[in-house]
Amino acid sequence: MHPFEQTDRTKPFPTFLYGTAWKEEHTSSCVEQAIAAGFRGIDTANQRKHYFEEGVGEALQAIFLRGELSRGDLFLQSKFTGRRGQDHRLPYDPEAGVSEQVQQSLESSLEHLGVEYLDSYVLHGPSSPYGWHQADRDIWQAMEICHAKGKALFLGISNVSLEQLQALCSQTEIMPTFVQNRCFARTGWDRQIRQFCRERGIIYQGFSLLTANPEIFQHPDFIAIVKRTGATPAQVVFRFTMGIGILPLTGTTDPVHMAEDLACLELDLSADDLHCIETLVD
Ligand SMILES: NC(=O)c1ccc[n+]([C@@H]2O[C@H](COP(=O)([O-])OP(=O)(O)OC[C@H]3O[C@@H](n4cnc5c(N)ncnc54)[C@H](OP(=O)(O)O)[C@@H]3O)[C@@H](O)[C@H]2O)c1
Repeated sequence: MHPFEQTDRTKPFPTFLYGTAWKEEHTSSCVEQAIAAGFRGIDTANQRKHYFEEGVGEALQAIFLRGELSRGDLFLQSKFTGRRGQDHRLPYDPEAGVSEQVQQSLESSLEHLGVEYLDSYVLHGPSSPYGWHQADRDIWQAMEICHAKGKALFLGISNVSLEQLQALCSQTEIMPTFVQNRCFARTGWDRQIRQFCRERGIIYQGFSLLTANPEIFQHPDFIAIVKRTGATPAQVVFRFTMGIGILPLTGTTDPVHMAEDLACLELDLSADDLHCIETLVD
């Protein structure tokens, strides 16, 4: 095992994830800045269309080489993206079966990141917006094999509906540890899926928390909470999501925002504040 590869399954998961989408040639510097700011959880994907996974690896290797952190200090999450979510830059053989594609994509992720295992391997989305199909079952089974080989400590699924999640959970050997969804305030912040997750001990990761919910920033009740706490609107959103059990993602490229986002942990929101924001626009 590589000296930086220290597996510690008992360590708690991070409370905030840094997302690496849409950063292209700035990916490496953003990841270095995020880790320097204090983020210990990194989300990426082997989907060149939206992510530059090699750039994430570049940052990690630089940090490991400088001896600032080792592999076990970080929570690294990547994704398997099916053919529909990819452009021509595929991390697998398009002619191969899906099970083989999952193995190839994972091996390629590990190579990009320069590590021997992922903490979390996420199915980027079911093969179709509706239903849970044979292709999805085959992909999940291949992900279970990655888990069994010790190359993915935990599994997750993204962009999933309640029905699809129910189908997956009723048919699978290994339950997802994570669900990662775009989280809209107007659906009570994905209330139904969050409740399903809570009942099964699945951790719900929320993304687009700021960008998907512009309406809350205009709401007088939200503005009142921001004024009273003296925090930024983004800090209130992130602290609120943590308060209701969401593991939030931020993909900010701004080091000031990185520090501000992490500082939301110091913010106290009351049960009334949480209830108010949770039901603001649904
Ligand atoms: N599973 C999926 O399908 C999926 C889809 C989308 C995203 N994701 C993941 O989620 C991560 C986050 O994506 P996101 O959709 O939530 O959007 P995001 O990339 O975090 O974008 C947030 C936007 O809000 C701005 N912003 C202003 N103040 C901010 C503050 N204090 N903190 C953070 N942002 C601030 C940012 O600008 P500045 O850069 O100037 O701060 C940026 O333009 C992605 O990088 C990716 O890892 C996953």
